[in-house]
Amino acid sequence: MIKTQLEAALIVGKVLTGASLTAVLQTAKHNNLTLSSQQRGAIQDLSYGVLRFYGQLDALLDQLLKKSLKDMRLRYLLLVGLYQLQYSKSPPHAVVNHAVSAARLLKSGKGTQGLVNAVLRNFLRRREVLQNEVMKNDVARYSHPQWWIDKLRRQYPRNYQAILNANNQRPSMTLRVNQQKIDVDEYQRLLEESGLGTQLIWNGAIRLTKPVNVQGLPGFTAGLVTVQDAGAQLAARLLDVHDGMRVLDACAAPGGKSTHLLETANMALTVLDNDSERLVRLTQNLDRIKVKAMQLVCGDAAQPAQWWDGKLFDRILADVPCSASGVVCRHPDIKWLRRESDLLQFSKNQLKILNALWPILNKGGKLLYATCSVFAEENGLQIEAFLSQHSDARQLTLTQAEMIEGQLLPDSQHNGFFYALLQKS
Ligand SMILES: C[S@@+](CC[C@H](N)C(=O)[O-])C[C@H]1O[C@@H](n2cnc3c(N)ncnc32)[C@H](O)[C@@H]1O
Repeated sequence: MIKTQLEAALIVGKVLTGASLTAVLQTAKHNNLTLSSQQRGAIQDLSYGVLRFYGQLDALLDQLLKKSLKDMRLRYLLLVGLYQLQYSKSPPHAVVNHAVSAARLLKSGKGTQGLVNAVLRNFLRRREVLQNEVMKNDVARYSHPQWWIDKLRRQYPRNYQAILNANNQRPSMTLRVNQQKIDVDEYQRLLEESGLGTQLIWNGAIRLTKPVNVQGLPGFTAGLVTVQDAGAQLAARLLDVHDGMRVLDACAAPGGKSTHLLETANMALTVLDNDSERLVRLTQNLDRIKVKAMQLVCGDAAQPAQWWDGKLFDRILADVPCSASGVVCRHPDIKWLRRESDLLQFSKNQLKILNALWPILNKGGKLLYATCSVFAEENGLQIEAFLSQHSDARQLTLTQAEMIEGQLLPDSQHNGFFYALLQKS
């Protein structure tokens, strides 16, 4: 446990000073080949857990420390220890003893082991009082930054607590069945026969009661199934694609929605993304499912002049880059890395992309604008602004019952998404 605590503390430290958790975990995996897969799993669990509850753990630590620590690595290690004591099944004495040994490895001066021991034991002794005290504060109570809580409270006065709580849950694993190859019922039976518990959500989305490694999924390599959140699985149906259409997936990588589109109808699909590395992953996904895009382009969706062949599209999917505020349970680092001011930049960029794609859509054609955000600035307000500037655009009503004006809020079944379907006259 010593190694995993220490490694998790260093990872948490990197994230809290600005790096993305996915990227840091990836680098740690490459750099530390001596770790077993079990240790890697434990490090990942600890890093995700600390970031999920960082608001609360940080406030508890402030209560426990008399003065600030010179070596921030020690603080990150204490956060890991507190997380384990609060949320894991590890025996408390083992957590404390191992954290003390891990502190020794940090070589951060005299007295550090004693300090780690005292802080963690003190927490165990005074847990209830401390907890009651810190929970008076929003950031500790919901483990989200104050600006985020305030914004959700303003935009969703009735749902903000449910959204914040959903963001702090462990994510579930949901599958999309390739219905070109197998019926949903039949695939669900295969899962159950493999001992996996399932729950049907909608349109063939199957949620597993417990996440598994993809290689353990029947027919994964043969392309029978793809891991995709149920909310993301709405895009292909909402876009209303049919055989023979010219379709553009404008922000396509890594291809979750492109492959779904290609499973839905026999179309001429152009996939576009401005990130060449992510396009490689998209190609691998197309290959696994054995579907083909007509054209694969690395380019800027806001600059069609650089890549467009001049033929109008019948359908466009604009799954634009966004704050990702709807997928916090999968990426708990997001809430600590984003700044409120980022939203303005995201929304400017989104509008630029939307404005650039509109002219290359055929008359009568449909464009589906999508984000995995819950903030109105990137969603409803964005579409309002767009419609006020384009008299040839009208917004079509979406029929998915779980959505409120195109907004799907995160809960235990799916992540948060926003969809707006626009038709050109
Ligand atoms: C939300 S992700 C897309 C997810 C994808 N549609 C899926 O379902 O797997 C947004 C994508 O937009 C790409 N992107 C960002 N800015 C872009 C731009 N100006 N032009 C094209 N792609 C862009 C990013 O590289 C990223 O892959």
